[in-house]
Amino acid sequence: MPQSRAKEKTIFFCTSCGNESGKWFGKCPVCGEFNTCSEEKVRESVKGVKRAAVLNEESTPLPLSKINSEQDERIKSGIDEFDRVLGGGIVKGSLVLLGGDPGIGKSTILLEVARNLSNDGRKLLYVSGEESLSQIKMRAKRVGNFSDSLLLMTETDLSVIEEAIEKAAPQLVIIDSIQTMYSPEAEAAPGSVSQVRASTATLMRLSKTKGITIFVIGHVTKEGNVAGPRVLEHMVDTVLYLEGDRYASYRILRGVKNRFGSTNEIGVFEMTGSGLSEVPDPSGYMLSGRPEGASGSVVAVSMEGTRPILIEIQALVTRSNFGMPRRTAVGIDINRVNLLMAVLEKRIGLKLSEYDAYVNITGGMRMNEPAVDLGIVMAIVSSYKDKPIDDHLFCFGEVGLSGEVRSVSQADQRIAEAHKLGFDKCILPKASLAKLSKESSSGVKPYGVSFVSDVVKLF
Ligand code: TYD
Ligand code: MG
Repeated sequence: MPQSRAKEKTIFFCTSCGNESGKWFGKCPVCGEFNTCSEEKVRESVKGVKRAAVLNEESTPLPLSKINSEQDERIKSGIDEFDRVLGGGIVKGSLVLLGGDPGIGKSTILLEVARNLSNDGRKLLYVSGEESLSQIKMRAKRVGNFSDSLLLMTETDLSVIEEAIEKAAPQLVIIDSIQTMYSPEAEAAPGSVSQVRASTATLMRLSKTKGITIFVIGHVTKEGNVAGPRVLEHMVDTVLYLEGDRYASYRILRGVKNRFGSTNEIGVFEMTGSGLSEVPDPSGYMLSGRPEGASGSVVAVSMEGTRPILIEIQALVTRSNFGMPRRTAVGIDINRVNLLMAVLEKRIGLKLSEYDAYVNITGGMRMNEPAVDLGIVMAIVSSYKDKPIDDHLFCFGEVGLSGEVRSVSQADQRIAEAHKLGFDKCILPKASLAKLSKESSSGVKPYGVSFVSDVVKLF
């Protein structure tokens, strides 16, 4: 085989989104992040060197009818919330990326999965490039008992890891973390965009050719020269993110991409002294400690995937001391809050421009579904008028710019979840009320509204 000549070239990568550029940039022209430019040397094979093409059995084009499809084989991890986000279990031979801020609990959750699977007698390999074996043992002691079918090693060279996989023949491999790994095929430093990509490509090949499931941990990095997990989202089968406030105990596992299932499912966990434990009833958990009879507090229902979750929305509206009112939002997009306040000001004449407003979703959850709009509106009006909302009332509905309350999907499921937790009055869009099934209306009294002005009249 003729040795292909290669020449070295400098490329500037964005460590946030992976954008490549021939020149240096201060702000990434694709994702808009600042200070994410990283200069890397890559080898480029010289054009014009032709390889002889060989058409083997796998690359022969086939009609659909000739392709054998096997049902995706799924392994249950023993953690229901984890399996739910994966779409019903771990798919054999898939490559899964688990991203999240440092210290959020990524190593812990995968060690728990490893504990359950090893106790089922499955062979696993945990490769750490970050911690020593004794550090991992210390964490494992907190997490529980492990069987000997879980093997551990500390290594960062992927060619060595490949050999270890060859020898140990595990069913599942955990790589902690991709930013510490390097593949000798790429010459850039570990953590650089080109190295992280080359390492992921090596792992992808391994998982597909050997049918091994590989979990890859990726740290979210704000800036600097280390590539973030977004750079490799497009290369893997499934992308999960573990989110939450480091200082609060709950954690949310969110699917962002899934070739084998839906992506909007979430799993809720709580960090305890002995690892992450599942929260099977997130609504009850989110509402615990709710004040009774306080103004500015209301319960709204948001759909997260197939599961409705009840959350408490709080607003504090106070007269502003400065010309420019302050607006703060936690757990929700501030622009959404500004928009809804403008709607209230224009459509029903509340003098909100003279007031500061603070809106908060308690429990530290982040909500993006438009169905929580009505909850934000009600919390703001309740605080503005200083009139508390009935403790047994909940609401959902999207609010448009004309002040109209628009219908949202799955009203029946939302009502059923709230009813389960003892709520019996519901404010919902009139259009959704018309489509409600009979069972939903028993036990819960619905009030249909079509404009925000109808909501204000209820106070
Ligand atoms: P870790 O899984 O190491 O985070 P990551 O791999 O995402 O960087 O989790 C680290 C944090 O979790 C650390 O602050 C300690 C805490 N923790 C607990 O509170 N309880 C436990 O049982 C464990 C194992 C960790
Ligand atoms: Mg870790």
